[in-house]
Amino acid sequence: MSESTLTITDNRTEKSYTLPIENGTVRAMDLRQIKSDADDFGLMTYDPALMNTASTKSAITFIDGDKGILEYRGYPVEQLAERCDFLELAYLILFSDLPDKQQLAAWTYDVTHHTFVHENIKTLMQAFRYDARPMGMFISTVAALSSFYPDANKVSDADIRLAQIKRLIAKVPTIAAYTYRHNRGLRYIYPDNDLSYTGNFLNMMFKMTDVKYTPNQALEHALDVLFILHADHEQNCSTNAMRAIGSSCVDPYSAMAGAAAALYGPLHGGANEEVLKMLSRIDDTRNIPEFIQRVKNGEGKLMGFGHRVYKNYDPRARIIKRVADEVFAVTGRNRLLDIALELERIALEDEYFISRKLYPNVDFYSGIIYQAMGLPEAMFPVMFAIPRTVGWLAQWQEMITDPEQKITRPRQIFVGQPRRELPKKKG
Ligand code: ACO
Repeated sequence: MSESTLTITDNRTEKSYTLPIENGTVRAMDLRQIKSDADDFGLMTYDPALMNTASTKSAITFIDGDKGILEYRGYPVEQLAERCDFLELAYLILFSDLPDKQQLAAWTYDVTHHTFVHENIKTLMQAFRYDARPMGMFISTVAALSSFYPDANKVSDADIRLAQIKRLIAKVPTIAAYTYRHNRGLRYIYPDNDLSYTGNFLNMMFKMTDVKYTPNQALEHALDVLFILHADHEQNCSTNAMRAIGSSCVDPYSAMAGAAAALYGPLHGGANEEVLKMLSRIDDTRNIPEFIQRVKNGEGKLMGFGHRVYKNYDPRARIIKRVADEVFAVTGRNRLLDIALELERIALEDEYFISRKLYPNVDFYSGIIYQAMGLPEAMFPVMFAIPRTVGWLAQWQEMITDPEQKITRPRQIFVGQPRRELPKKKG
């Protein structure tokens, strides 16, 4: 039963139509009955960049952009970041509820025991140039995984889907760490099953001559929090890509390579890298007013600010600021933090940013933390992709099992040449 209705009168025909309103939306397909005459295709909506179109129903992540609220499966992200580790959170996102003790132990065991990649993956990655961009390597390697699991395209089989979900979550840190080691010319480090998800990631990144690597607990915890904050964010650009590509029933590795590619762009997950470049260019707090003026003149953006959905402080940015303090207590303070804090202060008092409701987003502070941990800027999008793998897969699974979903195929308004004939050949 619909909550209310919308009545539309078409002044071309003087006919009236009553459309149900459900969940604050009308169904675009209901507009199709509105025709100027029998040959008319029917009314469509025009929504470039999908600014006002719900493409799915979803039970995973709730965002209230005006109030700055983010919830996974109903739990506020602030509480989850405080009480869960990343794999527990991944279970919640994928299976709708927090695991009990046994479920968590089984889930952790399963993911931990799929962290190794086939040796040929290692060989494949060695073929990249020594200075290849880590995210390029990551995207290509995730796509290559599909060739190792030919069953993965049986996407309607729940057991096969679950096997790929475990594999992908388990293997993305391994691939990510290999991209970093490759750039450094360091040997690849195999996963250590005794360590936590984030502890093992630090091991694969930073282990040098140690027989057994012991991760710094504060950094391991900070990474857990950062991963939790990045795990899902409903229908963003890369998730939309995951769903759209997956809707053709391709295997999840291929779909996820596409999602990771969407994340790579500087307007999305590549923004954290751009923030660092911007802060380095500003170089000194004294240069901030001039930089802000250039942004206001339209000569560039204040990277890490603004969001399609949040018109308030991004709740993830608030938590990340706290994590930064924990990390800097171990690594020493990153001098770029002072520039970032001052930049935020000045921007939030400036009419340009106030009137457009531009606040810091998750990427504004994450890069500073990753840099303090010793990561190069080019690794930042990869650091985003590791935890977002969970969100992509949960959304993919939801899409596959949603009886209302079909292959994604939007319409267009054709504005090109009307039909015309090729000129006759001369002679
Ligand atoms: N700096 C300066 N001005 C900005 C910024 C910014 N970071 N973001 C938006 N604006 C301005 C726009 O120029 C526009 O101004 P106008 O009305 O005078 O034309 C107005 O604010 C509205 O911005 P839109 O671009 O229409 O907003 P949209 O929802 O399309 O874009 C986006 C959102 C892409 C995130 C944008 O804010 C942006 O480019 N931010 C910088 C990149 C960034 O940090 N991306 C990470 C987002 S979080 C994530 O993906 C994980």
